[in-house]
Amino acid sequence: MKISIIGLGKLGSPLAAVLASKGHHVIGVDLSPAFVENINQCVAPVPEPCLQELISTHSSKLKATLSYEEAILNTDVTFVIVPTPSDKNGLFSNRSLLKAVEHIGQNISKKTSYHLVVITSTVMPGSTDGEIKSTLELSSGRKVGKNLGLCYNPEFIALGSVVRNMLYPDMILIGESDKKAGDLLEAIHRSTVENEPPIRRMNLMNAEITKIAINTFVTTKISYANMLSDICGKLPEADVNVVTDAIGLDSRIGPKYLKAAVAFGGPCFPRDNIALAALARQIGARADLAEATQNINYYQNERLHQFIEKNSRSKKIGILGLSYKPGTYVVEESQGIHLANQLTKKGYAVSVYDPMALEEAEKILNFGVDIALSTTDCLQKSDTILILISWPEFSREITPNLLRELGGNKVILDCWRLLSKSEFAPVCDLFYLGCGMEEESLLAEPSSIGASHG
Ligand SMILES: NC(=O)c1ccc[n+]([C@@H]2O[C@H](COP(=O)([O-])OP(=O)(O)OC[C@H]3O[C@@H](n4cnc5c(N)ncnc54)[C@H](O)[C@@H]3O)[C@@H](O)[C@H]2O)c1
Repeated sequence: MKISIIGLGKLGSPLAAVLASKGHHVIGVDLSPAFVENINQCVAPVPEPCLQELISTHSSKLKATLSYEEAILNTDVTFVIVPTPSDKNGLFSNRSLLKAVEHIGQNISKKTSYHLVVITSTVMPGSTDGEIKSTLELSSGRKVGKNLGLCYNPEFIALGSVVRNMLYPDMILIGESDKKAGDLLEAIHRSTVENEPPIRRMNLMNAEITKIAINTFVTTKISYANMLSDICGKLPEADVNVVTDAIGLDSRIGPKYLKAAVAFGGPCFPRDNIALAALARQIGARADLAEATQNINYYQNERLHQFIEKNSRSKKIGILGLSYKPGTYVVEESQGIHLANQLTKKGYAVSVYDPMALEEAEKILNFGVDIALSTTDCLQKSDTILILISWPEFSREITPNLLRELGGNKVILDCWRLLSKSEFAPVCDLFYLGCGMEEESLLAEPSSIGASHG
């Protein structure tokens, strides 16, 4: 199959490489000459595990261009994966997407054969069958149906495992304008995946809702665990990890994403609840759960401030982990950066370190935040250290011996429980979030617990 991909970013370039690796002829288009040149010189435009290897091995099937005309006239199917940033109301903006669709349509009008347009960017429900379809029809001079197909086909991937997630998806979601369009897209996916995932085909609206609903459900689980963490942190003998581990064994609930730690961040999760709530308000429906999930998420940052105010013995704070999760350089909605900037404003001396995200972080960190050279350097410069991201490097590099060598009794808040209490208790004050009475207790006396249950 001859396939074009519009947008060669974090999602588009892995998809282009994966499709090429399965024998499809792929032409990528991007506004960025650097990304186009990278692909043509067999260099991965974004860092993502396995991407470079795929591009190097399958370069004969993969090229890139700045020209929509070249891409559309030489392919039969086009995936659109350009940014859809949140607007001031929290809704996803289709501005770039519509420009891309207009260019695609203008070039489809120059050919006669069938063309399928697949929207992979995240869009608000109603977009694909609404303004996207009308823009495509107007610019191509065709009606969606016989000679022009339109699908909505989001990818469920996590940065750091994009290639793997594309090859082994849990599910493939296809919103289709008609059967012919859906059949063609299903065939492409079947030729690409290395497992046999269930495929759900539906109308465009249901697929758009499903995409947002999956992300908001997952974040509800995270916020639920974080809510329990707040409660457990204020009750004697409670440990949120023990509780969530047991809850997760119930097959109606399951363990995935039911882990208390810090707020969720990144390019997708935080904006999806906001978008769902904004959509609900717009149409006169209620999205209380999405709003609560988001509010609990904001509150996680407050808990970190409370911890520092209560437990730090000096103004020297170290923050380990600035990406939004391990294995990525992406710092959108990073808890670490947010906290570092706020603490600096409050007069704290903040030192930060991350194995991969320092270059990106530097662009948005406030003046005055010290960028440490290594985990050890960050520990050395700080009296209170918060481990916010579960980078494996931190559990490897922070050892009891290192803390002994650095001297002083450091306070460590280990949000992901990378360090073992028994090993580290002799060399530092190690705290876990959500672990009975280590955060401020709201209960005057333990006996009042029994009373409240009675
Ligand atoms: N990154 C993720 O984890 C993820 C996950 C699920 C969904 N998404 C969705 O996928 C879409 C793309 O996300 P991304 O992370 O790949 O974005 P990105 O910013 O990494 O890449 C987008 C690329 O599109 C290019 N571009 C922008 N306008 C263009 C145009 N008119 N023509 C050609 N190229 C254009 C940009 O230059 C950029 O290289 C968004 O809607 C996002 O919400 C992303």
